[in-house]
Amino acid sequence: MRLALIALAGVIAAALWWRKHPSACPYGQRFWVAPPHPLITRERLRATLEPEAGERILEIGPGTGYYTLDLGEWIGLEGALDVFDLQQEMLDHTMGRVAERGLTNVAATRGDATALPFDDDAFDAVVLTAVLGEIPDQRAALREVARVLRPGGRLVVGELFGDPHYISPGALRRRGEDSGLRFERRNGPPFGYFARLAA
Ligand SMILES: C[S@@+](CC[C@H](N)C(=O)[O-])C[C@H]1O[C@@H](n2cnc3c(N)ncnc32)[C@H](O)[C@@H]1O
Repeated sequence: MRLALIALAGVIAAALWWRKHPSACPYGQRFWVAPPHPLITRERLRATLEPEAGERILEIGPGTGYYTLDLGEWIGLEGALDVFDLQQEMLDHTMGRVAERGLTNVAATRGDATALPFDDDAFDAVVLTAVLGEIPDQRAALREVARVLRPGGRLVVGELFGDPHYISPGALRRRGEDSGLRFERRNGPPFGYFARLAA
């Protein structure tokens, strides 16, 4: 019992430390993102994003590709999906799954979300699920997202309570508006939701 309490205190302390020191979930800890994502389901992402065939979409922080294969299929082979991550291992893992699925409309680029190597107005939509809170300068990343979105383009952000880097809907709305993005709606309860903002 005492050992269990010590272990629990350790887990809580680690989560609090990690929250204060945002950083990317290491590839070695990908087991956190492999299981089914409650509340922030693929169906809920689709309902919030409303992807259309032929669109160009940017997924920042795909991790091991939990949403990537579906995103690639929703936009059809005439569409284009860019996956963008800080860690090459995450991109390699995701692109391995993309190849297994036979998708030919997905391209990978490595880099930091605060300096996106894409042109202005390049995308119809951008998706970040369980990513924004890992970025130390979130406003810089959101400004970059606003820059690469075409006028009227959508940003969809997914957040799940329990993730040490969880962002509440209110905080997301404030940070988005500071970066020139208009908060449109939330899909799901505050503790597990997708939010849609517009450029
Ligand atoms: C917790 S995982 C989420 C993975 C996936 N979106 C999901 O929900 O299953 C966060 C991902 O964001 C990436 N990431 C974190 N900070 C980043 C940054 N500044 N720029 C680009 N990617 C970043 C990490 O490398 C990791 O792949």
